[in-house]
Amino acid sequence: MNILAIESSCDETAAAVVRDGRQVLSSCVASQIEMHTVYGGVVPEIASRRHVEAICGLCGQALELAGLSKRDLDAVAVTYAPGLIGAVLVGVNFAKGAALALGLPLIPVHHVRGHIAANYLTYPDLEPPFVCLCVSGGTTAIVDVRSYTRMEVMGSTRDDAAGECFDKVARVLGIGYPGGAPMDRLAAGGDGGRYELPRAHVQGAELDMSFSGLKTAALNLIHNSRQKGEELSLPDFAASFGRAVSDSLVPRAAEAARQKGYGRLAVAGGVAANSRLRADLQAACARSGDRLFLPELRWCGDNAAMIGCQGFYEYQAGHLAGPDLNAYATRDIALG
Ligand code: KG4
Repeated sequence: MNILAIESSCDETAAAVVRDGRQVLSSCVASQIEMHTVYGGVVPEIASRRHVEAICGLCGQALELAGLSKRDLDAVAVTYAPGLIGAVLVGVNFAKGAALALGLPLIPVHHVRGHIAANYLTYPDLEPPFVCLCVSGGTTAIVDVRSYTRMEVMGSTRDDAAGECFDKVARVLGIGYPGGAPMDRLAAGGDGGRYELPRAHVQGAELDMSFSGLKTAALNLIHNSRQKGEELSLPDFAASFGRAVSDSLVPRAAEAARQKGYGRLAVAGGVAANSRLRADLQAACARSGDRLFLPELRWCGDNAAMIGCQGFYEYQAGHLAGPDLNAYATRDIALG
């Protein structure tokens, strides 16, 4: 089954052709990062306009790279939630038009379910159930992946997403947007014990997380050092910050895996590319004996291949949409 998959939930327009869930025939991504860098963050209206400009050509390119024509397609899958509403709408409307014109089924895919499916692309033998730590620019949650399409959130952030904190702190440091990757690179040569940063606990909800206090503390540290004229060691600061984020995520993910007892822990989303997080998860799984699944770096960030993969399983579960499909800025992963 050949699925044309479309992703436009944030600042990347993406199209892919995926066969039978796990065989990626093509994957094209048009990044808008350069455009948004000028503003230090994603400007939603600009993102929507850029998606409109890119989407048609990108789908054509994905088909061409796959060596297929429109007639070889069996379904169209699209991210329909969550994300920047104007941006998601572009993909949804294009997918609706394509499905209608080609007489194909339309498969709505939850963006975070797509991120989880990035693990299936990396590990051909991975099957649910497993626990997945989902960490991106908009989401931070621990998900019980019971089956390909039945999922439950075990814990989530009460405020900011981890990726958003990386981005905000990096913006104030002036080291680029999005900030996660440059912070990660800086941290490689740094001492993670140099600066003291908080790790939050949510009373009565051991698997929930909170990052707004860490973000504020990190920003205050930067401002205070500037006011005092003291030089902040960027590598040490980035390493300390990365360690604080990882310390908030890894023990909870490990605890969730222990509670479920599946013996399998996966990670998903843009922040899953973080070196410190990957190393700490490896160490935690070496201790617990759980098998760890780390998606290939190329599938960690937003892409459409992961949407095509998850779309295949949604299709098999009969989760289809009609021309009345809407886009949603927020949506529970359990609802699909
Ligand atoms: O999954 P993604 O591409 O988009 C969303 O669905 O949100 O995630 C983007 C986020 C950004 O916040 C970015 O700074 C972060 O992932 N990120 C990283 C790294 N690479 C990307 N954060 C930490 N370390 C990295 N190496």
